[in-house]
Amino acid sequence: MTYEELFELLRERRSIRYFQDKPIDKTILNRILSAAILAPSVGNIQPWHFHCIENEEMKKKMMECSCYGNFVAGAATFIVVSCNKAAKGAAQTTIWNPCEMEYSCVAAMNYGMLAATTLGIGSCWVSLHHGPAHNLLKLPDHQVIVGGMMLGYIKEAEIEPSGEHERKPLDTAVTFFA
Ligand SMILES: Cc1cc2nc3c(=O)[nH]c(=O)nc-3n(C[C@H](O)[C@H](O)[C@H](O)COP(=O)(O)O)c2cc1C
Repeated sequence: MTYEELFELLRERRSIRYFQDKPIDKTILNRILSAAILAPSVGNIQPWHFHCIENEEMKKKMMECSCYGNFVAGAATFIVVSCNKAAKGAAQTTIWNPCEMEYSCVAAMNYGMLAATTLGIGSCWVSLHHGPAHNLLKLPDHQVIVGGMMLGYIKEAEIEPSGEHERKPLDTAVTFFA
């Protein structure tokens, strides 16, 4: 793959919040999740877990756990990603910064969203109220909520971005120490 091809994919991905009423085939979901777990993780611990919600009632309940997502129930599949804080890697690595377990899950979510784009599936990260989401999924204490991800076939009306999408100029985000 060339830089141009990758850049085009990165440009193509944007947050999609409104979806067609069409389920996502298991093989497609599998491909998205298979790409997600290729993400880097601290000590290769792979602390992520993907809770894939397709049940309508549960999606509605999950919508109530969302900070800014009164559209969550419209997603074909809503994936909650949690971080297994008790997970260990094959090697006994000391984790100096425990937050890096959650960062690893974020990397996996991004890989998943990019893979979804290549498969014609729209996606959007949804912030969750951790306590209520944790309770709804009946998670043990060592599983910490990271975030939610809506997935679905893009509604035709959503040709334009449904939220803030423009980037600030690159030079406002970069400092060189030459
Ligand atoms: C950590 C995080 C939390 C987000 N939470 C929400 C959310 O709760 N609801 C929502 O509609 N979008 C949410 N988004 C999507 C952002 O609004 C979106 O990525 C940003 O506006 C840039 O637009 P783009 O994704 O189309 O490039 C979130 C994104 C991130 C990375």
